[in-house]
Amino acid sequence: MSQSYLFILMNFIPFSFLPSATGNECVCDLKNLDPVFPNDKLTKVETTALKCIRSITSEKMTDLDRLLLGLKQRMKQLEDNVVELEKENSKLYAAMSLRIIELEYAEIQDLVNKLNRTTNDYYHLNVQAAAQLEDMKNTMVELLKFDKMQVIKKNRENQIKKNLEQYKEELKASSPPPTVSPGRCGLGQLVNVAGPRITSPTPYGTSYPYGAWGRDVKPAPGDENKYWLVVLTSSNVYGYYVRQYSTLSTLLLGLGPIDTYIASSNPTTNTIQGSNMVMYANALYYNCYNTYYVCQFNLSTRSVSTVALPSDTGYNSKFYDTMSNY
Ligand SMILES: *[C@@H]1O[C@H](CO)[C@@H](O)[C@H](O)[C@H]1NC(C)=O
Ligand SMILES: *[C@@H]1O[C@H](CO)[C@@H](O)[C@H](O)[C@H]1NC(C)=O
Repeated sequence: MSQSYLFILMNFIPFSFLPSATGNECVCDLKNLDPVFPNDKLTKVETTALKCIRSITSEKMTDLDRLLLGLKQRMKQLEDNVVELEKENSKLYAAMSLRIIELEYAEIQDLVNKLNRTTNDYYHLNVQAAAQLEDMKNTMVELLKFDKMQVIKKNRENQIKKNLEQYKEELKASSPPPTVSPGRCGLGQLVNVAGPRITSPTPYGTSYPYGAWGRDVKPAPGDENKYWLVVLTSSNVYGYYVRQYSTLSTLLLGLGPIDTYIASSNPTTNTIQGSNMVMYANALYYNCYNTYYVCQFNLSTRSVSTVALPSDTGYNSKFYDTMSNY
C-alpha cells in the first residue's frame, strides 16, 4: 500500500515552487488536498473476509449431508420392513406393522428435528455472513473513492487472476471423492455412528440398553428368518442367556421368545462379557467372563468350549481395540 500511496501523492498533490532567498534554489511546499488513505479500513475488511471464510467451513456442510443420508436410509429401512412384514403374512400383521411403523416414525421424526436444528444454525450463519458482506461492500465503496489511480481495480483484477490460478491448482491437486463399492450391503460406506438407542423393550423393559442381536450367519435350513438377542443384564457388561425369535417382527415386538441359558447366574465362568458376539451355525461366539478366552456356546447341546487367545490380549477394558469392549 505504501507504494501506491506514494504514487497518489505524486500525481494529485499540487506542487508550488517558491523561489528561495538566493534565487538559485527551489523549495517545495506540499499541500495534500485529499484526506489520507484509510489503510486501517482496508485491513479490517481483509480480516473480516478471512474470518467469514473460516466460519463457513466444508465440515459444516458435511454434517448436513450426513443427516440427509441418515434420513434417506431410515426411509428405505421403513420400506424394507414393511415389505418383509407383508411377506410374513401372519395374523399379527396389522398390529406389528403399526408398531414397527411407529418405531420407525419416531426415528425419522428425530432425524427431521436434528435436520431442522442444523438448518436453523446455517440460517443464522448465513444472516451473519450476509450482514458482514454488506458492511464490507460499503467500506469498499468508500475506499474506492480514494482509488484515483485505479489501484484497487487493478489489484482486484490481479487477485482474481491469482485466485483462478490457485483454484485450478487445487482442483488438480485434490483427488476425487472415494467411490467405495457397496459390496453385499448395498448401503455404501459407514458415515456416522450414533449412541445406543432402544427401539424395542427387552424382557426387562427399557432398563438394559446394551447387548447384541442379529441373524445366524450360517443358519440351519429352516432357521433363516430366526433372530437372536443377548441382553447384557448386569452392569451393562455381562449376559448369561441367548434369546431367540422366529422372525424380525416378533423380535421387534418381543413376542414368543425362546431362551437358552449358559449358566444360572450372572456373571460367572463362561458367561458373556461385552457386546462383541456373533452367532454362527447355531453357536454363539463371545468373550468369556473375566478371561482372554473366546467362548463357543453350542445352542443345540448347551455346552461351552473355549479357545485361549494370546495371553497379552486385552480384556476387562473399555477400549475398542481389545477383544471385549463394552
Ligand atoms: C423447525 O424449527 C423451527 C424453529 O425452532 C420451528 O418453528 C419449526 O416448526 C420446525 N419445523 C419442523 C418441521 O420441525
Ligand atoms: C453343536 O453340537 C452338535 C451336536 O454335538 C454338533 O453336531 C454341532 O456341530 C455343534 N456345533 C458347532 C458349531 O460346533
